[in-house]
Amino acid sequence: MKYGFFDDASREYVITTPRTPLPWINYLGCESFFTLLSNTGGGYSFYRDARLRRLTRYRYNNCPLDQEGFRIYIKDGCNVWNPGWQPVQAELDRYCCRHGLGYTVIEGERDGIAARQEFMVPRGDNCLLIRFTVSNGGDETRPLSVFPYLEFCLWDAMDDSSNFQRNYSTGEVEVTASAIYHKTEYRERRDHYAVFWANRPVDGFDTSREAFIGTYSSPAHPEAVFGSGCTGSVAHGWQPIAAQQFDLVLQPGESRSILFGLGYIENPEEEKWESPGIINKSRAEALMAKYADDTAFDAALQDLRTYWEDLLSGFQVSSELESLDRMVNIWNQYQCMVTFNMSRSASYFESGIGRGMGFRDSCQDLLGFVHMIPERARERILDIAATQFPDGSAYHQYQPLTKKGNADIGSGFNDDPLWLIAGTDAYLRETGDWSILDEIVPFDNDPDLARSLMEHLRRSFNYTRTHLGPNGLPLIGRADWNDCLNLNCFSAHPGESFQVSGPSDGPVAESVFIAGMFVKYGRAWADICRHRELEDEAAEAEEAIAGMEAIVLDAGWDGAWFRRAYDAFGHVVGGKECEEGRIFLEPQGMCVMAGIGKESGQAEQALASVQEYLDTPFGIVLHQPAYTRYHLELGEISSYPPGYKENAGIFCHINPWIVCAEAELGHGDRAFEVYRKTAPAFIEDISEIHRTEPYVYSQMIAGKDAVSFGEAKNSWLTGTAAWSFLGVSQAILGVKPTLDGLQIDPCIPASVSGFTLSRRYRGARYEITVENPDGVQHGVKEMLVDGCPLAGNVIPVRDAGSTVQVRVIMG
Ligand code: GLC
Ligand code: GLC
Repeated sequence: MKYGFFDDASREYVITTPRTPLPWINYLGCESFFTLLSNTGGGYSFYRDARLRRLTRYRYNNCPLDQEGFRIYIKDGCNVWNPGWQPVQAELDRYCCRHGLGYTVIEGERDGIAARQEFMVPRGDNCLLIRFTVSNGGDETRPLSVFPYLEFCLWDAMDDSSNFQRNYSTGEVEVTASAIYHKTEYRERRDHYAVFWANRPVDGFDTSREAFIGTYSSPAHPEAVFGSGCTGSVAHGWQPIAAQQFDLVLQPGESRSILFGLGYIENPEEEKWESPGIINKSRAEALMAKYADDTAFDAALQDLRTYWEDLLSGFQVSSELESLDRMVNIWNQYQCMVTFNMSRSASYFESGIGRGMGFRDSCQDLLGFVHMIPERARERILDIAATQFPDGSAYHQYQPLTKKGNADIGSGFNDDPLWLIAGTDAYLRETGDWSILDEIVPFDNDPDLARSLMEHLRRSFNYTRTHLGPNGLPLIGRADWNDCLNLNCFSAHPGESFQVSGPSDGPVAESVFIAGMFVKYGRAWADICRHRELEDEAAEAEEAIAGMEAIVLDAGWDGAWFRRAYDAFGHVVGGKECEEGRIFLEPQGMCVMAGIGKESGQAEQALASVQEYLDTPFGIVLHQPAYTRYHLELGEISSYPPGYKENAGIFCHINPWIVCAEAELGHGDRAFEVYRKTAPAFIEDISEIHRTEPYVYSQMIAGKDAVSFGEAKNSWLTGTAAWSFLGVSQAILGVKPTLDGLQIDPCIPASVSGFTLSRRYRGARYEITVENPDGVQHGVKEMLVDGCPLAGNVIPVRDAGSTVQVRVIMG
């Protein structure tokens, strides 16, 4: 069942009922000011840091769901309703929500009155703009009252939701003609305030929630709206809000619009006050003046459209498959940008007060956005590298504001170092900017420990090479990619973190997965060395890689698939002797992507085992059989009920590894089959089962052992975005940036007759036509570049600004 449809021409998903299975959200903002916005107008705003500069409140596990947001009540006689249906939930005659790139439009209609809220965060300014338009479609004059409403957060979202003994007494506001200023703690150490404004005079306002809503009422029934209007309350402590009242009389056919804004303002210390106790509003006034009319709003919206159009234009495909095109051209790239902006901080599943930026996560996210924003990817790589320890290991997380590693989690996730090579390698292949390797970057954020990025990569590689266990496989430490496979943890007490309690490492537990990574990204490292004319170092690395490959094919091979690990007792994890967790997905994906066992046929066999034991109609599960009880020696993985999360859930993030692995073996049909199972646009019509947004990936889908098989969770902020884009753009469509130029090597279903693709690469534009006259899955028979035959399939780098015509004939 669907709850809307894709409007590709407008690059929008159009939701046609407010009763979506879960709130379906969008992200507004691409610089410093962000808003999460649901299809009914729920959500919240923050400036830069979702924990420390939260502007408006959100209660995650509230009931009903998604109560807090940017609401507008319309009072029409004794009828009260919202254009987005929530929170009053009065039935609408018509409802529609369009989530676009960086903006959202919500429309509702009731009894001949149509109302529209257009939301966006303009580039260059720290504010959310909302244009509200109301029209009288009937033939009678209609007197209406309109009430915008939002609830301020007292900045630190954690403190705001827990430290009530203090924060019930700190709330402060100021009110001027059409603006409400939220200035809690500005009297002391804060240099910032928030402002909610309207571009026309108000007929009333409230700033105390108790006055507007009522102590025992709810946003579904604000006493001021249902009763006799706003009371003019000024909040002192408790819950500061912004609510206003506008009394309008609409003639038949008449429309009116009001522009609202929610801004974040910082003042330098010496300019904080206008007079004692009165905040300096000059910056807020300038912002309000800038967005005072429709022309300014429309211009900002147009600017946003141009910005997104340009970002997405780096990769555009046109194929026979509509769902493929819309994922590649619009939504997958869009989601990659959102993971760039948000990392794992704020979604409807990530509270914005928890995790910092993950070392591993950020390196992988980069794989998905490097082609859109290479300069920012460069900066990100240097930030990440600066949190690496001198021995090559890494802080598992760092804080976006300070860019320092989180000491409370520390290091010991032994896959982390190699992801730095993965990210940097992707950057080099995309940009050819070798100068990044000469950048001097601190270790552990200590400038005294600074060395070149090249040296950072060297230490990443060497860390893995020198931390091996009894079988010669890399030691796993606290965990590898699977944060929940904690082989050295042995936690027996509730509430302990599986990642942080217990020893961070052990001398025995080993990871076959990291071994696969070592081969794959070790090769990338060797190539980088060779490009820098470090032939000896390249050869030495290749020798270590060849050694590791042999070990994987021996100690890492179980007979029909790659093993997962060896635990702290030296027992196999992910092998035929295991009662539960007999076969795991991660090592099959990583080892085959690395090309291990390609010649010997083991790669082929491993993927056949994946299909036989792990595949389901909704995607591939992490392992089988699921763990049915808690295994002390395995950790968090066995803490989840069977089928959920890391315990045999469909972890969407690594399904694309199988796409890449299948393509590595030339299996175009199967690669595409795996791709489409989790690609949101392809499963739009099972939205009632999937439940999360049909335009973005979720972290996981409940596996076949789960009661809610097929139900997704944790949408938006997931490594799935980057890896899916990599899988479809590089493995399936086959456009791969290499160190020497753009390689074209499609691996597609035999039934696809071809496609065209436009790719921006190192400043040049490649117009690529792929033809598949013989209906093959893989293989390039002939390639013409600007009409001339090319030997091989890597197009040498062209001058920036040029356009290159490429014709590829498969066969
Ligand atoms: C989450 C984490 C990621 C990890 C994965 C598997 O997606 O963000 O770092 O690799 O879970 O545990
Ligand atoms: C990943 C996993 C999650 C786990 C967390 C710990 O995000 O998905 O299940 O609790 O890592 O860091």
